[in-house]
Amino acid sequence: MVGSVLVRGDKIVAEAFHLSFGQAHAERALLERFEGAIESDDVLYVNLEPCCHRGKTPPCTDIIIEKGIKRLVFGMLDPNAQVSGKGIAILREAGVEVVGPVLPEVCERFNRGFVSVQKSGRPWITLKKAQTRSGQISNKNGSPLKITDQIQDEWSHTRLRARHDAILVGVQTIISDDPKLTVRYGDISFQPARIVLDPNGRMPKEANAVGGRMIVVTKETKGTKETKESKENGIERIQIPFKNGSFDLDKLWKALDITSILVEGGERTWKSFKDVGMIDEEVILIG
Ligand SMILES: NC(=O)c1ccc[n+]([C@@H]2O[C@H](COP(=O)([O-])OP(=O)(O)OC[C@H]3O[C@@H](n4cnc5c(N)ncnc54)[C@H](OP(=O)(O)O)[C@@H]3O)[C@@H](O)[C@H]2O)c1
Repeated sequence: MVGSVLVRGDKIVAEAFHLSFGQAHAERALLERFEGAIESDDVLYVNLEPCCHRGKTPPCTDIIIEKGIKRLVFGMLDPNAQVSGKGIAILREAGVEVVGPVLPEVCERFNRGFVSVQKSGRPWITLKKAQTRSGQISNKNGSPLKITDQIQDEWSHTRLRARHDAILVGVQTIISDDPKLTVRYGDISFQPARIVLDPNGRMPKEANAVGGRMIVVTKETKGTKETKESKENGIERIQIPFKNGSFDLDKLWKALDITSILVEGGERTWKSFKDVGMIDEEVILIG
């Protein structure tokens, strides 16, 4: 998530953001669209160091220099080893006054999924659990227990669900609770993908969570006739091998194009993430 603004005096005269992978980066989009002439006191702000390599789009450092930007303020260095520090060095060599990184913690937090994939090769993982004051997460017979109130639900939809690429649950939660796994409060235009860990193919076809982008992860076994990845009724199926009695999660991350995951349970699923140390943040809502 990268945005850029061009400031003249105390006014923003242009702004742009990176729409999606493969599209022009924020500062390139801004400079391509800006029709006026760049003045020597104009300052270009961008939250991520401008890129200097040719990926799906040309290097941003080229257009910054070509358009005559003289001052640039950036928020954080690019964690991508192909760029990190090099974008800044190229701009400085070309005579651009570069200030930054000015807000590295804030900017890294904002783009924690991208940073996590670049630095550790896996998505950012948040565990979310709701429990009563006595620590209960469901009724004794496993049936769903309404724990959180509306304020907590609104918070977890807008601040957790809407801010992760995907929501992940174990198949038993689908069977017991039949959750929708959607964002239903705040801005509902973005819906995260839904991932179900279902090694033995127990997921009911008519589950409420089926819809949108649904990924069901099953166990890869020798001699299996199914393809490794397949799509039927809108459900993407991925087969992943086991390691030490549960999914080899490193292999799962390689098969997914996802940068952040909210693990919503249940107990066995949370434990399997904790056991392999794949947890960046844990949120417990007490109801
Ligand atoms: N309060 C809350 O926040 C909350 C949230 C969600 C659920 N819940 C409650 O939790 C209960 C369900 O929890 P649960 O612990 O029984 O089940 P669960 O975690 O929902 O699902 C566990 C099953 O998912 C599969 N699985 C999960 N992680 C795996 C891994 N790393 N590798 C391979 N397979 C994996 C396995 O399927 P197989 O069994 O097929 O091997 C496992 O037995 C329900 O009662 C629900 O109401 C509460």
